Amino acid sequence: MTTLTPPQPELIDLHPVAADMLRLVRHGLQQEPRQLPAWFLYDTEGSRLFDQICQQPEYSLTRNEIELLEHSAADIATALGEGVIVEFGAGSARKVGPLLKAIQPSAYIALDISAEHLCQATTALQMRHPNVPMLGVCCDHSDLDDLPKHPLLQGQRRIGFFPGSSLGNFTRPEAVALLQRFRRLLDGGPLLLGLDQPKSRQRLEAAYDDAAGVSAAFARNLLRRLNTELGATFNPERFRYEARWQAAEHRVQMALVSKEPQSVTIAGECWRFAAEEPLVTEYSVKYTPVMARSLAAEAGWCWRERWHDPADDLSLHWLEAAD
Ligand code: AVI
Repeated sequence: MTTLTPPQPELIDLHPVAADMLRLVRHGLQQEPRQLPAWFLYDTEGSRLFDQICQQPEYSLTRNEIELLEHSAADIATALGEGVIVEFGAGSARKVGPLLKAIQPSAYIALDISAEHLCQATTALQMRHPNVPMLGVCCDHSDLDDLPKHPLLQGQRRIGFFPGSSLGNFTRPEAVALLQRFRRLLDGGPLLLGLDQPKSRQRLEAAYDDAAGVSAAFARNLLRRLNTELGATFNPERFRYEARWQAAEHRVQMALVSKEPQSVTIAGECWRFAAEEPLVTEYSVKYTPVMARSLAAEAGWCWRERWHDPADDLSLHWLEAAD
């Protein structure tokens, strides 16, 4: 007897080149405070560490969102309708399973910044859902003008899926621009948007600075990445990691703080860090339902409904393109 294994999903690689990364680093280091794009955190090692964060007891977002998706998939499927699912920032693609079962889409398109991780994720998912054609696109979705011209997308209604509160990793103007971009990319189709909600300072700071030190390792890996890919000379041990809830901005700020005055060279350029100077690795904005609605409206989306977990810690929002 022969067992048929599904074909490995195709991968289209549109990852930014080193020169683009260098330009973004230069720009980020000139900001006050200094800040790098959050997607820099996700090389192969960063994606692996992020999966570990999702398993830490303090970080419940991923577990709760998966449960919510499993619980509400039938209602969500009725709301979203038929088409091809396009997931932005698919990571390990662990969340889309209930939607694949409930919607039975014509195809699943996974976008992510880490090519190796994306390849593993879509291969594993294809084994579990052999009847759904799949495609991986490695890209920075915040800088993507068009989805690839691919037969799986041709003539199909597009259903966007952006879970995990990844929108929270963008500042308000960036988040508006990203949602406007998704509107264009989805070409009139709906969007299911997962957002985390504000909680106590203690809970949030623990979630982003877990006792096992995985969040700190995830942030420090960014400096190693800059060393390897851009020839930088960071010593990650000369920076301490901190996660602080900034109540006025509704966000957690994650930063590597220089322990002492130091200089770092990146592609031949010297950058000085003062003692206690932060390098922001990411923000994680937490949205109340009211904030989510106003953000959606500002970006040209019509808010339709939300599903939330029993504790009302996080929600999945159904948005339709406003006319
Ligand atoms: C991917 N993103 C939504 C995570 C978050 O919760 O903001 C990233 C993260 N960084 C540290 N822990 C989690």
